[in-house]
Amino acid sequence: MTGAPLSLRPAARLDIEILTDLAMRSKASHGYDAAFMERCREELAIRERTLSERDVWVAEAQGRILGFFGLEFPQGGVSEVNPIFVEPDLQQSGVGRALWRKLEERARFAGARAIGLESDPNAVGFYEKMGCRIVGLSPSNSIPGRMLPRMEKPANSPPDPNPGEARKMQSRTRIIATAKQMLAGECPYIEGSRIISGLLVAAGINR
Ligand SMILES: CC(C)(COP(=O)(O)OP(=O)(O)OC[C@H]1O[C@@H](n2cnc3c(N)ncnc32)[C@H](O)[C@@H]1OP(=O)(O)O)[C@@H](O)C(=O)NCCC(=O)NCCS
Repeated sequence: MTGAPLSLRPAARLDIEILTDLAMRSKASHGYDAAFMERCREELAIRERTLSERDVWVAEAQGRILGFFGLEFPQGGVSEVNPIFVEPDLQQSGVGRALWRKLEERARFAGARAIGLESDPNAVGFYEKMGCRIVGLSPSNSIPGRMLPRMEKPANSPPDPNPGEARKMQSRTRIIATAKQMLAGECPYIEGSRIISGLLVAAGINR
């Protein structure tokens, strides 16, 4: 690692530009050309919306962000890793493993029964080291016709060390699901973004 102590914290709005830039440079570290990277730009961009729709954490040391992950809230019991990236000059030095440890903890707190992801073909070895197995192939969201290894790992939890935090995450997940239903017009008897904003503020989510 860097030698300096690594700490993990939830991502904030101020991090958005840094995370988007880090994601592009980290993905490009596999040797993809400019045209390929351009096609990935949209999918890799981190937006304010990303921070409210996913559980995003950054690893930092001495004020520098070294890597980050986004974890989708469980659907059908599965939490998707989307994405995980480490600064090119710090890959292979333990940052990814530290991020993964936190990611598993967050997935368990959110009540996931499994963690899933579509892996870059060059990152399969990392996920295997983290205990994931290839379960199939999934189409890339950025490159039509490109198929990616689908990987999963059971989130079989050790005893919950912090049930209060688990409850908080589960209610946060429920609140987000309700807010999404409202935004999609599935709760016609409640209208107005103020109510939705209120719910999200109550859940401690910045929009
Ligand atoms: C994949 C990635 C997140 C892993 O993070 P990292 O900080 O490099 O990983 P770590 O140093 O913690 O490595 C943990 C273990 O995985 C192995 N590993 C890391 N990256 C690997 C890779 N691409 N292929 C095979 N093994 C890998 C390490 O050698 C280490 O093994 P060990 O425990 O036997 O020593 C990071 O390399 C990265 O951002 N890569 C570029 C972008 C990318 O592919 N992101 C994932 C997109 S799906």
